[in-house]
Amino acid sequence: MTTLKKQDVIDRAVEVLKENDRGVYTVPTKGLYPFQWNWDSCLTALGQRHFDEDRAWVEIETLFQHQWPDGMVPHIIFHVYDDGYFPGPDVWKSGRPTPTSGITQPAVAGFAVRRLYDNARNKQAAARRARALLPKIDAWHRWFYENRDPQKEGLVAIIHPWEAGRDNSIDWDEAFERVPTHGVEPYVRRDTQHADPKHRPTKEQYDRYLWLLQHFRSLDWNNSKLHDASPFQVVDPGFNAILIRSCADLAVLATELGEPALAQANRDRSEKGQEAMEKLWSEEHGQYLCLDRVIGKLIDSASIGGLLAAFCAVPKARAEVISNTIGKLAEKARFLVPSHDPADPRFDAKRYWRGPCWLVVNYMIADGLAVAGQTAMAERITQSSLDLIAESGFAEYYDPLDGEPLGGGRFTWTAAMVLEFVQAA
Ligand code: GLC
Repeated sequence: MTTLKKQDVIDRAVEVLKENDRGVYTVPTKGLYPFQWNWDSCLTALGQRHFDEDRAWVEIETLFQHQWPDGMVPHIIFHVYDDGYFPGPDVWKSGRPTPTSGITQPAVAGFAVRRLYDNARNKQAAARRARALLPKIDAWHRWFYENRDPQKEGLVAIIHPWEAGRDNSIDWDEAFERVPTHGVEPYVRRDTQHADPKHRPTKEQYDRYLWLLQHFRSLDWNNSKLHDASPFQVVDPGFNAILIRSCADLAVLATELGEPALAQANRDRSEKGQEAMEKLWSEEHGQYLCLDRVIGKLIDSASIGGLLAAFCAVPKARAEVISNTIGKLAEKARFLVPSHDPADPRFDAKRYWRGPCWLVVNYMIADGLAVAGQTAMAERITQSSLDLIAESGFAEYYDPLDGEPLGGGRFTWTAAMVLEFVQAA
């Protein structure tokens, strides 16, 4: 990238982030997502730090102000009233002072806060703010292993596809069959009014998303009951890798900030998780796979979740195989990394998480591969991400075959990731 072009990309990315800034939190995009989303915010802060460090901390601090008393950090915070989104607070009925959803999302905060702290220009302020966030992030991590790993296996399950952040991935199809659709209250979707219905989850999937929501609501969002009561319990390698990496990063940060007990607890969690990840490895697919915990079987679905596993310092030999697997995907797609293998008949180049590329996932895979010494593939993924931006702008996601921009436009976390990528390029 020439300097001029690079500056142009930076300016455009900053413009998107400022446009979606609502003061103390940032909306993912206008219209489609008018509130604060959990992992969006943590990754957004990484972009914001490049032009306003203070604002970056605020993004994460706001999120943690809405942490539940049991430690969970919800996936959406409904800061304002907006009937352009469904399901809204009146459906979730979480009972929180500021309404929130009742489920969680990938725990990337530990990673994000360490990155903010490590690169802070104002180290003193960063130490103070990181120290205040440490016990909150630790409580979230503890919540995960207490509530989502009842057999103490070292890996946590998601109980709703939205928790993985990969809403309609092919990974969930089989386990989703077990979720009934009868008894779902009538509803009107809003997402399909903002984006092309052909690129969004189907009606049948939506019914099941809502069945689970209603089921958990009927149990008063009591997290000590939800895992066992859910017909959908999936151990997602990508989701676990993010949590494991955040535990490891929080441990490093806690050591640096003089909190040895908190550091030890998180180191233990990450080490146990890393070991347990081996159970999800598939030699045949050259990547990790999801485990359907209800039936105790690996799910035959070569999705990006199993490649994202590279984010948590998997053994170097595994990272090398993952890198080769991505190399093979590159022979089938123009852009990296498709969220599903294009050779799979279930692949759909334009439908949300069933094929398209998402820059946040690219960012985390590239980071993990670089740490594992797979720098050439990490650079290739970064370059492919920047090519997508140059060709198609700051979209929510992209068709990996032709690069078409899809979903919401002027998308916050895409812009944030670009600011991170440009520094690396
Ligand atoms: C969609 C994505 C999810 C994201 C949210 C807001 O639901 O699947 O990962 O957090 O939009 O951008």
